[in-house]
Amino acid sequence: MKQPDVWAQFARTIMTTGKRPHFAPSEEIVVIMRERLAAFVAERGSGCLAVILGATPELADIALAAGCRVVRIDSNPAMFEAAAGRQAVADRTRETILIGDWLRMEEIRDGEAGIVFGDSSLNNVRHGDMSQQLAELARITRPGSMLALRQIMLPEQPQPDYDFAAALAAFRAGRITADDFHRRLRFYAFNAGAYDPVLRILDASRVFAEIRRKHEEGSLTEDEFAFLMTRRSEIRHTVYGMAEQQRLFKSLGTCETIPAGLADSARDLFKIFVIRVGQERP
Ligand SMILES: C[S@@+](CC[C@H](N)C(=O)[O-])C[C@H]1O[C@@H](n2cnc3c(N)ncnc32)[C@H](O)[C@@H]1O
Repeated sequence: MKQPDVWAQFARTIMTTGKRPHFAPSEEIVVIMRERLAAFVAERGSGCLAVILGATPELADIALAAGCRVVRIDSNPAMFEAAAGRQAVADRTRETILIGDWLRMEEIRDGEAGIVFGDSSLNNVRHGDMSQQLAELARITRPGSMLALRQIMLPEQPQPDYDFAAALAAFRAGRITADDFHRRLRFYAFNAGAYDPVLRILDASRVFAEIRRKHEEGSLTEDEFAFLMTRRSEIRHTVYGMAEQQRLFKSLGTCETIPAGLADSARDLFKIFVIRVGQERP
């Protein structure tokens, strides 16, 4: 779901506060993506086209630094403006910015992309559009291309540590960071009411309604509530369990799964999928 209003609001907040957004990829994710790209370039040579699904400057910088040409695609121009302050590579002559839709990347020729990077990008594509999205990714890539996509995931097993009371206790005891506390609530604790298993939608509006309710019943302090509300949104993410996510990605090629954020105690909620496009085209 492109949800232009939601992302425009985020862009305004980023530009007003000058703060790095909480949804930007962490250094740990960037390191994994950089290592994978370095191995790819060592095997295949530099100079290929890297397509970045989103404005995400950290991923564009990795590809530019490795000698790739880069196309960054996002449907929301404000996100590029908001991302400019996070760009570290000064020479951007090999980069093209496209305001467009990942479902129809007409500017990219068949088989042109050696690399595709995305940070929770495909969580923004409707389940009903996912087969079209995967077909478009298959079109722009070629045998041997690599896609590295971080995805928000439903944990494979129940995670009692991520339930509201357990997460709150861990946060108050200083055992988890504020980021982790937010992630456990945002992507797990309220899934019983906030996740629609038919549409595969995790609805942030419902999550934040639950957080508000917890505050009203006295379970969250003013500070805890205020912190969580700085991350309030109405994003409707498409989120899959592991088996379904792997099945979808395996339609593109061989698929390796890396637990994303090994140092992160909410790591079961995110995975990086590294897909190598395998099949020769007819
Ligand atoms: C890439 S995702 C997640 C943010 C990412 N972690 C980051 O730091 O940039 C969010 C972006 O996806 C964009 N978006 C969602 N659906 C899209 C689509 N179908 N085509 C192009 N952009 C899309 C939104 O405009 C938003 O800027």
